[in-house]
Amino acid sequence: MNVSEAVDSRMSCRAFLSIPVPPEVVRTILEVAKRAPSGGNLQPWHVYVLAGKPLQELLADVRAKLPANPNGEGAEYDVYPPKLTEPYRSRRFKCGEDLYATINIARENRPARLQQFARNNELFGAPVALFFAVNRQMGVGQWVDLGMFMQTIMLLAREQGIHTCAQESWAVWHRTVEAHLQMPPQLMFFCGMALGYRDEAAPINHLRTERAALEEFAVFRGL
Ligand SMILES: Cc1cc2nc3c(=O)[nH]c(=O)nc-3n(C[C@H](O)[C@H](O)[C@H](O)COP(=O)(O)O)c2cc1C
Repeated sequence: MNVSEAVDSRMSCRAFLSIPVPPEVVRTILEVAKRAPSGGNLQPWHVYVLAGKPLQELLADVRAKLPANPNGEGAEYDVYPPKLTEPYRSRRFKCGEDLYATINIARENRPARLQQFARNNELFGAPVALFFAVNRQMGVGQWVDLGMFMQTIMLLAREQGIHTCAQESWAVWHRTVEAHLQMPPQLMFFCGMALGYRDEAAPINHLRTERAALEEFAVFRGL
């Protein structure tokens, strides 16, 4: 698989098979991903890998808390800007519409939408979870570095025949996540990531999200 194929075949997988991922495969992905660039080579990323019993304990804890806290515990950061303007607002809306259309959930069917969204808390059935954090002293630049690290992992996963789904949904469970991971207080939890083998038969995995045309986001001068 070349890089273009990895980029093109990466998608957010929202239904995984219950087949375990060999630990050495996860280790290899992270080992190679550490070559991701970072400003000043700070390598500001921290990642916690969970599978098996520790993962099931975390999922069970969230499951137990969910009925009393349907919106979680509150996030430490805004997952989206509070007043998203165009064109971003419409893109977000369209992505949601297209996603629910794949599983025939109508716009008005809010309970079904919430139920599907809650699948985030089950990691969409994935056998491995990655949780990403940065030291609280870090600023925007280092958060970008963390993003590059995450994308490198997602692309390397493709090379291993594995799919992923980045999950900011975990941000609203940061206290529970931090407690289970015994994360030191100087680290700030950012995002989860489900990792495993894609259920090819699941209609939700056949969503091909749209992208804006090149002219909408790129400015060329002198070439
Ligand atoms: C940082 C980040 C967080 C995300 N969080 C979630 C999430 O919590 N739940 C989810 O289903 N998808 C999540 N996504 C997936 C995006 O919705 C998805 O990347 C986008 O719609 C483009 O689709 P694609 O990844 O299939 O190309 C996240 C993506 C990123 C990059």
